[in-house]
Amino acid sequence: MSFLSQLGWLYATKAFDTTQKVSDADLGQILEAMRLAPASVGLQAYHIYVVTNQELKDKVQAVSWNQAQIGSSSHLLVLAARTDLIDAKEEHFTALSGGDAAIREQLAGYEGMVNGLIGGLEASNSGLAWSAKQAYIALGFGLAAAAELQIDSCAMEGFDGGAVGEILGLPASQTAVVMLPIGYRAATETPRPKFRLPQSSLVTEVR
Ligand SMILES: Cc1cc2nc3c(=O)[nH]c(=O)nc-3n(C[C@H](O)[C@H](O)[C@H](O)COP(=O)(O)O)c2cc1C
Repeated sequence: MSFLSQLGWLYATKAFDTTQKVSDADLGQILEAMRLAPASVGLQAYHIYVVTNQELKDKVQAVSWNQAQIGSSSHLLVLAARTDLIDAKEEHFTALSGGDAAIREQLAGYEGMVNGLIGGLEASNSGLAWSAKQAYIALGFGLAAAAELQIDSCAMEGFDGGAVGEILGLPASQTAVVMLPIGYRAATETPRPKFRLPQSSLVTEVR
């Protein structure tokens, strides 16, 4: 099933069937799509937590306006934005160069540009906002991949990020910014008719 043909089917699921679990293979494809999402300057300054522990999901639900899609999900994906951008950059360039000093040297121009970006973000205290934007792109890829696999989901930002961080034991350098519970819609679900603004309201061609 292609993503484009799934757009009418996709909706923000409010309750999942607790008897159905997403397979490891399908979960792997969703996570792979998120991993391969683009990020500004290539820096993937976020971390994805996959929560299956029921007690933890219930605790997260309690600090998320008690939204039932969390506790009933098969897997709860929590996207945390990183604020330790220097460390994230270091990890990126170490991995990209394979730890080879000569290759790293060849990347000096690129690394200088990333350093400049990080310096500007830190000076304007906007590192978290920047990292969160990158996490949301991964969120979109996860939503799309799940839909293609006919797995239901609900993008969510209605939660207390600080409390979720405490429940999951996130390091101080990470802030939970958005979540994606996934699973299979409960039989009781009656999705609202999809409403979106027409393209004429959203799109202006500039020739
Ligand atoms: C970033 C983001 C955050 C959202 N947060 C929540 C949320 O906390 N709870 C919820 O039920 N839906 C949440 N939604 C789903 C939207 O409310 C939903 O997509 C919108 O109402 C349209 O409904 P539909 O997608 O089912 O057509 C969120 C969607 C996005 C993209």
